[in-house]
Parts: sequence; C-alpha cells; structure tokens
Amino acid sequence: MVGKICGTGSYVPARVMDNDDLSRIVDTNDAWIRERTGIGKRHIIDGETTSYMAGQAAMRALERSGVKPDEIDMILLATSSSETVYPCAACEVQRMIGATYASGYDINAACTGFVLAFNAAQAYISAGFCRTVLVIGAESMSNMIDWTDRGTCILFGDGAGAVVLRAEEGTPVSMAAHSDGEKGPALTGLSRHRKGWEKELEDGAVKESFIHMDGQGVFKFAVRKVPEIIEEVLEKADASLDDIDYFVLHQANRRIIEAVAKRLKTDISKFPMNLEEYANTSAATVPILLDEMDRSGMLKRGQKLMTAGFGAGLTWAACLFEW
Ligand code: ACO
Repeated sequence: MVGKICGTGSYVPARVMDNDDLSRIVDTNDAWIRERTGIGKRHIIDGETTSYMAGQAAMRALERSGVKPDEIDMILLATSSSETVYPCAACEVQRMIGATYASGYDINAACTGFVLAFNAAQAYISAGFCRTVLVIGAESMSNMIDWTDRGTCILFGDGAGAVVLRAEEGTPVSMAAHSDGEKGPALTGLSRHRKGWEKELEDGAVKESFIHMDGQGVFKFAVRKVPEIIEEVLEKADASLDDIDYFVLHQANRRIIEAVAKRLKTDISKFPMNLEEYANTSAATVPILLDEMDRSGMLKRGQKLMTAGFGAGLTWAACLFEW
C-alpha cells in the first residue's frame, strides 16, 4: 500500500507585510531582498496561533479529500514554533477537527519537518499500521524572529499547509533522509524554556532572538545536499530526472532553487515557486505549495513529484511519489 494524497489545504494569515514595510523597521530595501532571495512579501499572524493555522489548513484539506475526521488514524504535525511544548499541536488539531480516533504528535525538524513527516506517514501506511494520515506543516516564524536583525527577519513568514494521505494500491514511494549534527550551529533557534535563558541574555551570551543563522553556510549546504539527495532517491526508485514532472522544494530562497535546478541540469520551469508571496514558512512551505499547485489545476493523477526539504539540524530529506 502507498499513501495517496486525496486532499490538500492551506491557511495563511490575512495580514501582509511587504518589503517596503520591512524597510521601515530595519535598514533594507525591496530591491536587495528581491535580488538576494526572490521574496516580495510575507503573511504575519495577527492573533492566530500555530495550531489554529494548522487546524484551518487541515479542515480545508479534509473538505477537498472527502475523508471524514473520524477516519483519520494519525496526525503528524511538523512545526518548530508551536506555542506550547505540550500538549503538542497535533493533539490540539485533533480536538479542533474532531478526529476522534486519531493519534498524533509533532515533528520538529525545522524546514525539513514536513518532508520527514510525509515520509513517516508513508512508512506507517506501507507497514499497514495506518490507513489515513493527516500530515501538516505549520509555523509562526514571526514569533521566532529578531525584528531588528535584517539578516534574518526579511526571510520568514507564517502559515500552514496540510495533506490527507489514504492507503491505496500503487507505485511505492522512494525516500531518503539525513542529518549532520556537527553543522547544527549553522542555524539555531534557542528555546525560551531553557534554564538560565534570562541570565545568558543579561550577560550578552545570546541575543534577544530565536534564530541565528550563518546565511552563506546554509546556502552552500542546501545547494550541495539537495541535488545529492534527489539523485539518491532517483537511484533507489530506478528513475531519472526526466521522469519527474515537478520538483516541489522547500521555499527558502529563489537563488537556492535556481542553483539546485542548474546543478541537476533541469529546466527551472519544473521547480514551481511561491516564495515571492509567502517568504520562507519553514515546515509549511511544501504543503502550501502543493495546495496551490493542486488548486490551480497543475497536477494530474500519475504525475511524478519529487519533494525535498532542508534546514536546521542540519537536516535534509526527499521523497518521490506519484500524484
Ligand atoms: N538588506 C540590505 N542589506 C543587507 C541585508 C538586508 N536585509 N542583509 C544583509 N545585508 C548586507 C550585509 O550587511 C552585507 O553588507 P556588507 O557587504 O557591507 O558587509 C551585504 O548585504 C551582503 O551580506 P551577505 O550576508 O553576504 O548576503 P548574502 O548574499 O549571503 O545574502 C542571505 C544573505 C539572503 C541570508 C543568503 O545568505 C541566503 O539566502 N542564505 C540561505 C539561508 C536561508 O535561506 N535561510 C533560511 C532558513 S534555513 C532554511 O530554510 C533552509
């Protein structure tokens, strides 16, 4: 059995902050942000929580799937910006949507989270442990940003996306995942639940900021590792680059995606992007993009999609699946 996507949904806050708005907060400008990242604006929470956005995306996905909440066996929610450590956001979504029989938990792997959750869902389904799995990526990145740091605050946005997977006969998925904890310091988000946080802040050992990033280090990592893992997954599936209809990559930066396409010698038109509108919503980028692709009519049954995520950990993962 394989998990087939039978419904997608997404939710982004109505409040929009464009690059000009940001230039009134930090020393930056629209031209610089667009040229270096491809980002034009981002949606920012205005009272919403991570679990609220996740629940809204889930309800929209369920509506399109025809699946009833009580048919869901498992909710896997990828997030690194939930308001609570526990209860986990997946359980809050379970309550919100009335998924009476579902178990659920959160997966924290930053921008790679959704692809890892998707892979885990596929493993549960192929093992016969689950028949219907709701996979969500949801983030309130604006809560984790130092809004005085122009190096990071320009990059992120808030939102959520969800897919409903149902067990069906079909071509098995092919997947891979890796971590490199040695390179963890390249991208860190400090927890305020940590003991001694206030003292470190007072001493100046950490900044009043959640996200610290070696931008160029992360850029180089992504451009090297994403093509590698895509090739690895293709080899496992005995498929080639030409077999892939779309590469649905984590939406961190236009230049990263263009560099990956170039390394793979594949036309950029096969790499859909929406980061101009939403910026980097971390674990939510891939499901939001999938939802937009589905709603726009781009996707047809039988098409082959390669998804890949990469980010803090450092972590990276990919999956080849049939729409
Ligand atoms: N506006 C204007 N100028 C800026 C800004 C800004 N927002 N930020 C930095 N600058 C300046 C710097 O101060 C520097 O000035 P200097 O030359 O006078 O010293 C100059 O622009 C170049 O700065 P760099 O940091 O070298 O810029 P770079 O070309 O590396 O772009 C960026 C920075 C966009 C962060 C890039 O490194 C990047 O995209 N990295 C990938 C990281 C990423 O996408 N992270 C997202 C989270 S992780 C994930 O999702 C995988």
